[in-house]
Amino acid sequence: MSSRYIIGIETSCDDTSIGIVRDDMTVVSQFTVSQTTVHKLFGGVIPEIAARNHIAWIIPVLNSTLKKSMLDIDDISAIAVTNYPGLIGSLLVGVAAAKGLSIGWKKPLIGVNHLHAHIASSFIGKEKKPSLPYLALVVSGGHTSIIEVNEKGWEILGETIDDAAGEAYDKIAKMANLGFPGGPVIDKAAQNGDPLKYDLPYLLKHPRYSEEIVFSFSGIKSAVKRILDEQEVDIASLMATFQNRVMELIERKMKLALSLKNYKAIVISGGVSANSKLREIAVGLSSASGTELFLPDLQYCQDNGAMVAAAAFEDFESGRFSDICLDAAPTLRAVK
Ligand code: KG4
Ligand code: ZN
Repeated sequence: MSSRYIIGIETSCDDTSIGIVRDDMTVVSQFTVSQTTVHKLFGGVIPEIAARNHIAWIIPVLNSTLKKSMLDIDDISAIAVTNYPGLIGSLLVGVAAAKGLSIGWKKPLIGVNHLHAHIASSFIGKEKKPSLPYLALVVSGGHTSIIEVNEKGWEILGETIDDAAGEAYDKIAKMANLGFPGGPVIDKAAQNGDPLKYDLPYLLKHPRYSEEIVFSFSGIKSAVKRILDEQEVDIASLMATFQNRVMELIERKMKLALSLKNYKAIVISGGVSANSKLREIAVGLSSASGTELFLPDLQYCQDNGAMVAAAAFEDFESGRFSDICLDAAPTLRAVK
């Protein structure tokens, strides 16, 4: 049987990214236009600007991706697009483009959940997918969720009650004038700091949270702000302590989740999965629990089109297609 190729379109936040993935999970081509230089000026993503830039870039990105793939339109099996959750104006640009391609090229349309796409980013370039049931941590600028994926589908076991982990990195970097996005700069600064120098609280240490899979990062934001406001600060050490506290909570809750069932694999994905400390923790969790570890390559941790295509293969193989009325939605709950 000849190979199948799916186009994945990702515009849920501020990256315009389109990738073409083959059914063996290799990326044939991908282009991403990042808007970081624009949003950096504001210290965060401005939704209206993000949506307008997607409109400007989506067709050039599509043309470049197709050209680089050396494929014909006839070789493409389906058009996949992130349709939820995300910034609604941004999502609508991708969804409208995907619908246009689906109608014009007479190809099936597949709407993809952004969290699924992040999970699938860890399948790219791998020979096999994780065995079921597995535990997935999606940790990004919009989500911090522990998800069980099993034979019946997937279930969110726990998530953040306020900020996402990546959001905390971004907001703290803004407070400390370190730039945007905060994750990579804080991760780098933390390498040269003394994590014991500042007394930041451990997160969710109250016994009532001990058996709950839950995250909260707004308290640590205020604690960091107090230190920044009150004294001359050794930024590297403050960031090292902040990073340790965030990662300690993630590790604690992953251990709790792993104790609930005999999971066969762990998947850690989303923008924050590029974090050096989290990648170390992931290896430790996997060896301590005897589960296989799936981590995306660094280039597929941030939002990208290839992961959308990778996630769509299961639906494609089972003939689960979206109809042309496919909607976009800002939250996980709005669309099933
Ligand atoms: O998955 P992603 O590209 O977009 C969302 O779906 O949110 O994730 C972006 C997030 C940002 O908050 C960014 O600061 C964070 O990922 N991030 C990191 C690192 N690299 C990116 N956070 C911690 N450490 C990193 N090395
Ligand atoms: Zn994302």
